[in-house]
Amino acid sequence: MSAAAAPQPPPANPQCIGVPREIFAGEKRVATVPAVVEKLVKLGFRVSVAAGAGEAASFGDEAYRAAGAQAMPSSAIWAGADILFKVRPPTAEECEWMHAGQMLVGFIWPAQNPELMAQLAAKGLTVLAMDALPRTLSRAQKMDALTSMAGVSGYRAVVEAAHAFGRFFSGQITAAGKVPPAQVFIAGAGVAGLSAIGTAVSLGAVVRANDTRAEAADQVVSLGGTFVPVDYAEEGGGGGGYAKVMSEGFQAAQRLMYAQQAAWADIIITTALIPGKPAPRLVTAEMVQAMKPGSVIVDMAAEQGGNCELTVPGEAVVRHGVTIVGYTDLASRLAAQSSTLYANNLLRLAEELCKAKDGHAVVNMEDDAIRGLTVVYQGSISWPAPALAAAPVAKPA
Ligand code: NAI
Repeated sequence: MSAAAAPQPPPANPQCIGVPREIFAGEKRVATVPAVVEKLVKLGFRVSVAAGAGEAASFGDEAYRAAGAQAMPSSAIWAGADILFKVRPPTAEECEWMHAGQMLVGFIWPAQNPELMAQLAAKGLTVLAMDALPRTLSRAQKMDALTSMAGVSGYRAVVEAAHAFGRFFSGQITAAGKVPPAQVFIAGAGVAGLSAIGTAVSLGAVVRANDTRAEAADQVVSLGGTFVPVDYAEEGGGGGGYAKVMSEGFQAAQRLMYAQQAAWADIIITTALIPGKPAPRLVTAEMVQAMKPGSVIVDMAAEQGGNCELTVPGEAVVRHGVTIVGYTDLASRLAAQSSTLYANNLLRLAEELCKAKDGHAVVNMEDDAIRGLTVVYQGSISWPAPALAAAPVAKPA
């Protein structure tokens, strides 16, 4: 008869992961969920969640408590936690509530927020920016919160389009007559675009899509869409899986093709982005005018200046009989789902930081994934990380 394993003693002085309430107006997401709290506790951490932090995402204080978290006021979390898990970048006021030696994990956008970066460094913090993860490292994919959020947003974009559209997505033959399927055009087939394609196809729409990166074509087809190329030979890959700004000649040919697609489509969902640049203008006012009345555009690039000339960021407006949705909070509009995925990304990061499962996070600057994420290290700005060495190219046999 084997003796039962002796219970492990709790780790000595475990660190506390604190989850404050997000204060950005309208933000409904939360950085951890009860199912993940249990797993963070198993890594040896103590977890504190601000009272009401998960309410807008349908996670109540009682559920966090039952999972092993302590509920306390946000102010106590900012002051007392060793590691802060957040969604949005901290405001100037939130920065003031932190102190030297703490670790902050969340979206930071260092290129867009130089003042915030200076403030975080001056505070003596270590900051891990989820948006700075080297996404091409395959072992980093489990931590890729940009992909998680883009996937949720692409899905929600289709739901918003369906809500604003006056007809079914699927074609139907009914006693009252034949209903044609909705015709959907997706501009940009990255993570969000592919999620939108899959969702629109599953609702029964006929879906076409375009992207400047050649590799996107097969991915569009594998999800049940049709890839529409631009009649101009130019590769759009700009490195790291991202797009580049295209030549004038390409842009003129692309405008011609987009005008044809706008006249065909009932719904256009635009997702096109180029890192560090304003969103490419793909849908002009004339194209909107040429769309059928009752058509819908969802512009997922609204926050970066918009892919459509008539988008109003943050709002849904009607122009020339077309509803143009420019919401900039699509992931937050599906808060339970996006919080769960984000919390899992943070859990995977916590596992990487705490390999000993002893409730202590170690930032290993020799690890490419962790080095990439770490934008402030012990009070010094460490962003951008040095470029990763390219993977060796296999030689033909
Ligand atoms: P993104 O959000 O920066 O851009 C969205 C899409 O817009 C991209 O597919 C881009 O090619 C496209 N686009 C840009 N300009 C355009 C134009 N003028 N016309 C049409 N389309 C245009 O990109 P996202 O979604 O974050 O990632 C893009 C790609 O990066 C992914 O599809 C994937 O290939 C790669 N990636 C790789 C990962 C990995 O290797 N682990 C993880 C995440 C992304």
